[in-house]
Amino acid sequence: MIFSTRVTVCNEQELDATQQALVAKAKAMTGQAYSPYSGFSVGAAALLEDGTIVAGSNQENAAYPSGLCAERVALFAANANHPTLAVKALAIACYTNGHFTKQAGTPCGACRQVMLETEHRFRQPMQVILYGQDQCVIFDSAADLLPLCFVSENLER
Ligand code: THU
Repeated sequence: MIFSTRVTVCNEQELDATQQALVAKAKAMTGQAYSPYSGFSVGAAALLEDGTIVAGSNQENAAYPSGLCAERVALFAANANHPTLAVKALAIACYTNGHFTKQAGTPCGACRQVMLETEHRFRQPMQVILYGQDQCVIFDSAADLLPLCFVSENLER
């Protein structure tokens, strides 16, 4: 079995206007992260099908596992407040040591699982845009980030 994934790599200026706006929001959201323990601030911005942008940042906790990643903060807020609106795209940016990361930040496994659930819920792909100062990496679908994933059909007996 061979898995293959189409990945678009480009710089920020090569993104279209919608993508640039979403990335700008994700970058701005890093400034609102609560990351006193890791010093690693992440911003995420979700574009809904009506054009609304719902954003989030990572929220850490002295009891470390109680914190939550920026992607899940953004997606859960989007789905909680707009349960009928599909998420068309999600942009992610990371900031640490006084600058945005040069490489695109890649989401953790738990966030990939949540992204995938959002796609399945609305039955349409969600573009994932990972921002890096040197290059942006774009996936057409969250499913591309999690092959052999666990979805609702796996719960059927
Ligand atoms: N983090 C995110 O917000 N998103 C990810 O996909 C990876 C990691 C956060 C969690 C924690 O607050 C900090 O970055 C360092 O792991």
